[in-house]
Amino acid sequence: FFFDCVIAMGNQSSDPICLDYNATTPICDEACQVMQEYLASQARHGNPSSGHAFGTSAKHDVESARRQVAMAVACDVKEVFFTSGGTEANNWAIIGAALQVREQDPSKTHVVTSAIEHPAVDAPCKYLRDELGFDVTFVPVDSTGVIDVEAFGSSLSDKTSLVTIMHANNETGSVQPIEQLVKITKTFHKDILFHTDAAQSIGKIPVGVDDLGVDLLSVCSHKFYGPKGVGALYVRQGVHLKRLMHGAGHERGQRPGTENVLLLLGMGAAIQATHERLAENAQHMQTCRDRICEVLRSELGVDNVHLNGPVDQRLPNTLNVSLRSPANGTWVRAAHILGAIGVPERRQVFASAGSACHASSVSISPVLLAMKVPEEQALAAVRLSTGKYLTMDDAVAAARIIVSAVVSAGISEEKHVGANAGCHSVDLLVDKVE
Ligand SMILES: Cc1ncc(COP(=O)(O)O)c(C=O)c1O
Repeated sequence: FFFDCVIAMGNQSSDPICLDYNATTPICDEACQVMQEYLASQARHGNPSSGHAFGTSAKHDVESARRQVAMAVACDVKEVFFTSGGTEANNWAIIGAALQVREQDPSKTHVVTSAIEHPAVDAPCKYLRDELGFDVTFVPVDSTGVIDVEAFGSSLSDKTSLVTIMHANNETGSVQPIEQLVKITKTFHKDILFHTDAAQSIGKIPVGVDDLGVDLLSVCSHKFYGPKGVGALYVRQGVHLKRLMHGAGHERGQRPGTENVLLLLGMGAAIQATHERLAENAQHMQTCRDRICEVLRSELGVDNVHLNGPVDQRLPNTLNVSLRSPANGTWVRAAHILGAIGVPERRQVFASAGSACHASSVSISPVLLAMKVPEEQALAAVRLSTGKYLTMDDAVAAARIIVSAVVSAGISEEKHVGANAGCHSVDLLVDKVE
């Protein structure tokens, strides 16, 4: 998990620089425009379930958003079900699939996931295990955060009903070999369902349900410049899920509740825009990210910048690094950097830290723990994630601000002693878990 943090320093007059696009993204112009037009039009505020003209118009808006999502992930419109976001899509896919399969065949009581999932997958898996009597295997990852394919193969059993492995990791950007894992799964038994959480990959790398071979795929609007609180679940035709909510017949009887037309319009426009300019945006995000890394390396020294995550098999926008003080070669805790320079009067850079330490304990990100990153290095991990609105000038400015922060935090760190030295500041900076 990640904690929101603020890195501040530098030019007083300038706007903050956001290097936290994996946490969320601003709403893009295309989405803003359709949402504003919708809000401004009295004639479009009908209930999509109503038979009169207002209803028909709203229904048309809902179905046009469904077409846009279907086109972006290359599936049929009938396979797209709207949800309140990535968390609901994951819960429904995992709990709905596991319960449905076990009802048909009571021997199917095993689910496979990974050790690096977002809480929106990890928690429903633990709910299945702790409350509903399922066995869950958490497949380990290697030191770069990529699934151990051999361990994955041996985790499958005659009892397995479902595999859920994320497409790309939110902390390190590691991209999992989903196509390969699907092949292994379907060769073991063709009926095992495969779900992937694509919250972080859509808009950054190609995501096609048939290319990946998955049965279920979660979509999260606010990671690709759409509004928050809306998402979708792709459900391959022929796959049945237990309903989690009970009510009227919306979403073809599978997910009741009057559709949030405003947010669906925004998500539809955003996913279409992101899909149409995928290569261009990915190139821009990667160029900015790599430039940030170059500045950190050239100014702090190559040996003082350690990448947490794979070099190549990684989202184009994500840079998770642990930084050492060039003065004394010790890891500079993310909390120290943030605590030393969190002054809002100066130019700010928004980023995230993966681990935190409190008065009497340290809390290491489960993802870095699974990668067996040593404690001091994990406590130094800062996640920098670029996006389409970041300019190259700001990317370089942000990198220099971080360099100054590392240098000054490194100096102040020498004044502290003990394992949790200086950690008191993090509690002030941590306000929510992503
Ligand atoms: C990988 C991943 N899955 C799921 C989610 C949750 O999505 P939402 O915020 O739409 O519930 C997030 C958001 O942080 C995420 O990064």
